[in-house]
Amino acid sequence: YDVHVGLDPAFSVGTVDPRIYGSFVEHMGRCVYGGIFEPDHPTADEHGFRKDVAELVRELGVTNVRYPGGNFVSNYRWEDGVGPVQDRPKRLDLAWRSIEPNTVGVDEFAHWTRGLDLDPVMAVNLGTRGVRAAVDLLEYCNLPAGSTSLADRRAANGRREPHGIRTWCLGNEMDGPWQIGHKTADEYGRLAAETARAMRRTDPDIELVVCGSSNSGMPTFGSWERTVLEHTYDLVDHISLHAYYEPVAGDIDSFLTSSENMRGMISAVTATADHVAAVKRSRKRITVSFDEWNVWYQSRFPGEAGLAIRPGGPLIEDVYDVTDAVVVGDLLMALLDNADRVAIANQAQLVNVIAPIRTEPGNSAWRQTIFHPFALTAKYARGTVLQTQVRGPLLATGQHGDVPATRVSAVHDPATGGLTLLATNRDRHRPAALNVSLRAFAGEGHRLVEHLTLGDSDPGATNSADRPDRVTPRPVDGTTVRDGQLEATLPPTSWHLIRLH
Ligand code: AHR
Repeated sequence: YDVHVGLDPAFSVGTVDPRIYGSFVEHMGRCVYGGIFEPDHPTADEHGFRKDVAELVRELGVTNVRYPGGNFVSNYRWEDGVGPVQDRPKRLDLAWRSIEPNTVGVDEFAHWTRGLDLDPVMAVNLGTRGVRAAVDLLEYCNLPAGSTSLADRRAANGRREPHGIRTWCLGNEMDGPWQIGHKTADEYGRLAAETARAMRRTDPDIELVVCGSSNSGMPTFGSWERTVLEHTYDLVDHISLHAYYEPVAGDIDSFLTSSENMRGMISAVTATADHVAAVKRSRKRITVSFDEWNVWYQSRFPGEAGLAIRPGGPLIEDVYDVTDAVVVGDLLMALLDNADRVAIANQAQLVNVIAPIRTEPGNSAWRQTIFHPFALTAKYARGTVLQTQVRGPLLATGQHGDVPATRVSAVHDPATGGLTLLATNRDRHRPAALNVSLRAFAGEGHRLVEHLTLGDSDPGATNSADRPDRVTPRPVDGTTVRDGQLEATLPPTSWHLIRLH
């Protein structure tokens, strides 16, 4: 089938905030212990962090990492994770019913992120704790040594320089009945407002993320955001959104077009935020922090309550295939296409737990299929997102109605003239003949730099420790740029990166 795309550098959506290429490290399963941190591993540095994993994190192109949860944070005492390691208590983590040894805490995490030039994003516990503990943590992390006893405690723990953590999440998924300390929108809105006010007095330079809905199927979706923002509008910068996707009842077409749900969530939540602004006569605009998103086969997970109390070990280590990678690439395009309203996003999670990076204990670390669209998008989709006019057929889906079979996103770098096109063919049976008009870029005379695809004759193909490179991006032959027209073929179920200069 034919797809025609019109582009004009004069018509932009917004500038890509590099923070949309964030990830998430939770004290859950083997994300921290046995993931980023494995002191006995041959590549471990002097602090116990795996250098081979750090290398893959660098290659993935992640810009910031949210920590320490997730559901974990809602019963977390941050003080347990600082000071001499031998004195730290073992605690029962109520979220995942695991024993938390507290060997890694905020100091180790901040040190690890600094080494990788990543921004740490810290969540505070608004489940079982409140204003006092949140302010203490912020003071411990960000105030200069010599100013208060908490700042001095950090210095005494060997971290004289403040961690300088700029972005803070006011709790996690507080709308979810599974959350320890779950609250109504009014209860949470009040607590979030008071916590935000006190945190801003502690450090006026921080940015705050208030909890939005855990997914668009929550019964309170929309009303939760309205109520919470009525309490917090003037005190916060971003509202969070979370979404995990998987095929439901074998409906692959709906799964392949999951980004339609993400697009809908972003527009519903920003409209709700703008409604609150209108009622408040406020010119301020709240942006979205999509701080948990990914493919997650939740149907394979027995649920938190079904877990026996355990010392740790693997949890939700989904193995991703080619179709999953196409969905992940397509979700990133939805974030890009909303560059005017999405400021931060975090793929959940980074290592082992529903993650692009997997590790073998004492052995190799490897890239899942979903690693590749993330890494290439984070590397090349920087600059100004352009509006795309796409003319092509629609796919009938059970969950999202009739949606475009092909999605195309375009990111232009006005400084260099570079143009990055991202495209997905979400049709499982028919190739797409893509035709992009570049005539509006007349002066720039684009040439093709490369066309890479993530696709396979077997959409169920996966990578593994034994075959870590079974699925990798491959160059596409036959793509042409002539007389201001780009022509390319997009096979069924495939993701594409097309770079022009
Ligand atoms: O990422 C796994 C879990 O999913 C997080 O802990 C929670 O916030 C979400 O429900």
